[in-house]
Amino acid sequence: MIRPLSDLGRARDETGEVVAVEALEGGMVEITARLPRLATTARPGEFAQLRAWAGVDPLLRRPFSVAWTAGELCSFVLEAVGAGTRLLVALRPGDPLQALGPLGNGFHLDPVPARAVIVSGGLGCAPFPLLVRELRQGGCADVTVLSGAATASRLYPAERFRRGDDAVRVVEATDDGSQGRRGLVTELVAGACEETAAVYACGPNPMLAALAEALRHLAPPPERAEVSLEAPMGCGFGTCLGCALPAAGGEWFLCCRRGPVMEVSQVDWPGLLALPPAHVA
Ligand SMILES: Cc1cc2nc3c(=O)[nH]c(=O)nc-3n(C[C@H](O)[C@H](O)[C@H](O)COP(=O)(O)OP(=O)(O)OC[C@H]3O[C@@H](n4cnc5c(N)ncnc54)[C@H](O)[C@@H]3O)c2cc1C
Ligand code: FES
Repeated sequence: MIRPLSDLGRARDETGEVVAVEALEGGMVEITARLPRLATTARPGEFAQLRAWAGVDPLLRRPFSVAWTAGELCSFVLEAVGAGTRLLVALRPGDPLQALGPLGNGFHLDPVPARAVIVSGGLGCAPFPLLVRELRQGGCADVTVLSGAATASRLYPAERFRRGDDAVRVVEATDDGSQGRRGLVTELVAGACEETAAVYACGPNPMLAALAEALRHLAPPPERAEVSLEAPMGCGFGTCLGCALPAAGGEWFLCCRRGPVMEVSQVDWPGLLALPPAHVA
């Protein structure tokens, strides 16, 4: 059954101040802003619609996972891929940042699993620092992050998943073998997921589809297997209908309201892979 609609009652529009912009290797940037409302309400896997420009180009806000919260501070991990992200990564401390959120359904943590495996591909790392922290604080003793990217410089730094918690294991894979295991991160899944209660993933759609296939062959399968999906998002709260994605069984769902986190079994993977690239004004 498709997930219930997200709770829009917690979402607020707030304008905060950027306090730090850190450039990581490979073009990734972590932006931290004072956004007290979002920082104190966002749960792992939820997102915010960000805007840091005046005028109509780009016209719409852009969606980003909440990567980390600390007191009144909220962090996002992104890279410049188009007009909106180029403006965001150019922000400097003191600049205003407008955020609408938290939006969407995040990862299920109730009950907190005894053992969790996180599968992260490239920028799909973004929701996981917060998820790792919430799992560990909730009592999950064994958290393993499988982190993959094309090359070493595109890997999200292992320490940023852990953020000081040395009990969190990070296993890396790169397509070219420049760091960690050579190959796709999904090739690590079978070995890492035995007796795992929960698997959480985020990354490009082909990676998530490969994960879904790998999980089909696990015996026993994890009790919970969730993926955070991306779709072109005009509004982020269910009015523009731009973010419809195909669900298993021939239905469609709005990624911004039912997702972005979905059960692996709820997604029509061939249908998802056949969609055209996102285009947002
Ligand atoms: C729920 C959600 C959470 C996200 N979290 C993050 C995050 O934490 N970090 C991050 O770097 N990115 C994240 N994204 C993707 C990010 O929103 C897009 O990269 C961004 O909107 C592109 O805006 P732009 O104006 O720079 O690029 P555009 O000029 O709009 O597009 C540039 C390229 O990005 C692609 N693109 C545009 N919008 C999306 C989209 N919504 N999803 C996927 N590809 C898109 C286009 O097809 C095009 O190839 C998330 C997307 C969603 C839906
Ligand atoms: S982004 Fe507008 S309906 Fe989902």
